[in-house]
Parts: sequence; C-alpha cells; structure tokens
Amino acid sequence: METDMNGYEEKSNDIRSEDLSELLGAGTREIHEKAENTQFVKDFLRGNICKDLFKLGAVALYYTYTALEEEIERNKDHPNFAPLYFPAELHRHEALARDVEFFYGPEWKSKVSCSQATKEYVERIHKVGQEDPVMLVAHAYTRYMGDLSGGQVLKKVAQRALKLPPTGEGLEFYHFEGIHSAKAFKQLYRSRMNELDLDMDTKKRLVAEAVKAFHFNIKVFEELDEIGKSIPREASDTDMTHHGAMGGDIS
Ligand code: HEM
Repeated sequence: METDMNGYEEKSNDIRSEDLSELLGAGTREIHEKAENTQFVKDFLRGNICKDLFKLGAVALYYTYTALEEEIERNKDHPNFAPLYFPAELHRHEALARDVEFFYGPEWKSKVSCSQATKEYVERIHKVGQEDPVMLVAHAYTRYMGDLSGGQVLKKVAQRALKLPPTGEGLEFYHFEGIHSAKAFKQLYRSRMNELDLDMDTKKRLVAEAVKAFHFNIKVFEELDEIGKSIPREASDTDMTHHGAMGGDIS
C-alpha cells in the first residue's frame, strides 16, 4: 500500500511505476474485464454469432479505424505521437475496407452506414485528434494493443463459426501482415509509449481517456447485442458452443 499526499491509502489499483504502459495496463484492468464480459463478446468467444451481426461489427470497426487513422495521419509528426506512428504494421483501415467489401459486395459504400454508438466513438476520436492530439495515444493503445492480444483467437472463432474461407477473406482485419511476433511488437510499442516526454498529469489524463475508449467499445458491443436480438438465426450460424471454439488462451 502506498500513501498519497492526502494521507489516503491507495487500494487495489496501487501503481508504483510511472511508466505510461504500466499505468495504462493497471488503469484499464477493471474496464477490460467489463469489456470481456459483455454479452456480445462472450457470445463471440463461444462462436455464438451470426454472420449478419459479424458483418455489422466489421462495419463498426471500419468507421472506427477510418477515424482513428485519419487523426493519426494528421498527427504523425506531433512529438507526442510520432514514436507510435507504425502505419505499415498497424493500420487497419484498408484491411477493413476489403473485409466490408467482401461481405457487402462492390457497392458496399452505399450499403453500409455508421451506427449511433459508433458515431459517438468516432466523434470523440476526431475531437481528440483535432483538439488534444496527445490523447490519441490512449485511443491507439486501446485498439491496437487489444487487437494484437486477442486477434488470432478471434479470427479462428469467426472462421469456424461463420464458415469463412480459410484464405482469410473477410478476416483481413485480424491479420497483421507487417507483424511477425505480436508479443515483440507489443513490447516495442510499450517502450515507445514510455519514451514519450509526458508529465504525470498527462499520463493520468491518458489513462482516463483509455478508460473512456473502452466505454465507447462497450457501447458498440451493447448496441450490436441489441441488434442481434432482432436478427433471426440459422442453426448453422450459431451452434458452436459445445465444439471448443475457444481453443486456449487468447493471448
Ligand atoms: C490485453 C484478453 C477484449 C483491449 C489483453 C490480454 C489478454 C486479453 C489475455 C493480455 C495480453 C498480454 O499480456 O500480452 C481479452 C479477451 C477479450 C478482450 C479474452 C474478449 C474477447 C478486449 C477489448 C478491448 C481490449 C474489447 C478494447 C477494445 C486490450 C488492451 C490490452 C489487452 C488495450 C493491452 C493491455 C496492456 O498490456 O496494457 N486482452 N481481451 N481487449 N486487451 Fe484484451
């Protein structure tokens, strides 16, 4: 237990390091658990997802990453973001455009739209990118570190549940062509975050912004879950629960 300036003891989120990567990891642990336990995510992990809902999830990601990467491009030379600029390794916008095109066909742009919950997330990303660019670090961290952590398992679950081609079409989002070791890349990303020249107040604001980013993601999951309730399901889409879809540790 540590004692802060006011003499209060810090409880379970007791953080000794001033490294941004540690602060973000510890500061989002609780909300991460909440995200993992949303109905949509639990269903997905069980392979209990229908294709129409998966497609809407890809559309939500498409709009999210379009906004995120537009703001990253705007701020790529900003000293508080430049060390985290890895377009070849991380950027997902083009992969998602190909996934959405695979699902909706060549006229996809006129067939998809940005949902309400996604719109709120997107608006926040634009606001941050334009008014407070250092906070973009929190949004990049929340999405890219998460994608690199769970991607392979989620890809396999989706491939099996939706009977998508083994060639990877429709699942390009999950495939980071420029990254051979997710673990090594995450280490590099963490060390780049830690080398940013930020004061403690900014680091704390970043943790709060990352928690906010998780909340936006949870809102999108909850919205998808609601939509899912009104989609009629085919037995073939959903019956993965008893076939070991998880297949091991997500990390
Ligand atoms: C890290 C699991 C959903 C964001 C991790 C790690 C695991 C994991 C095991 C640790 C990887 C490591 O130590 O290298 C899961 C599971 C999920 C899930 C089972 C449910 C499907 C999410 C969601 C988000 C997210 C929805 C946010 C949109 C993150 C982030 C990290 C992470 C930012 C990096 C934490 C850090 O090291 O600082 N996740 N995750 N995860 N996940 Fe998730």
